[in-house]
Amino acid sequence: MERTFVMVKPDGVQRGLVGEIIGRFERKGLQIVALKMMRITPELAARHYAEHREKPFFKGLVEYITSGPVVAMILEGKDCVGVVREMMGATDPRKAAPGTIRGSFGMDIGRNVIHGSDSRESAAREIALFFTESEICEYSLNLASWIY
Ligand code: PPS
Repeated sequence: MERTFVMVKPDGVQRGLVGEIIGRFERKGLQIVALKMMRITPELAARHYAEHREKPFFKGLVEYITSGPVVAMILEGKDCVGVVREMMGATDPRKAAPGTIRGSFGMDIGRNVIHGSDSRESAAREIALFFTESEICEYSLNLASWIY
């Protein structure tokens, strides 16, 4: 099983989309193994988005992600990183396919509702950045044989 890091961004929280987004992942068959609401500090934002430090949108991105609480989670399932990226849709919500999360709920690249790790390596790094081992729950789903 693969794990990925997912975050409902401050606009998603403010717009009351947390339940809708988590519900989509649950109904898809992905397992939530960690979940919390938190405020991201500028320091954590800078570490999380370190690879974009030189990008023109970096300052605005840090301001946006620290502007209100987020809901952070770890999801688990087969090919979970790619499955979540497909469900999120393209980074720019105006270009995201209809039916995807961003395609359904977003209008602006700077308010794109959700973050999901872009590779297994990023997932491992981001999970370690946001969660301690004791915050991650290992448990089996009785449903598993009905999903796979
Ligand atoms: S890049 O340049 O291709 O590496 O950037 P990308 O991977 O598409 O995006 C990296 C994160 O920056 C966000 N982003 C932006 N925010 C605000 N304004 C603009 N123009 C912009 N472009 C990209 C984008 O949503 C990514 O954040 P996450 O949280 O990973 O979705």
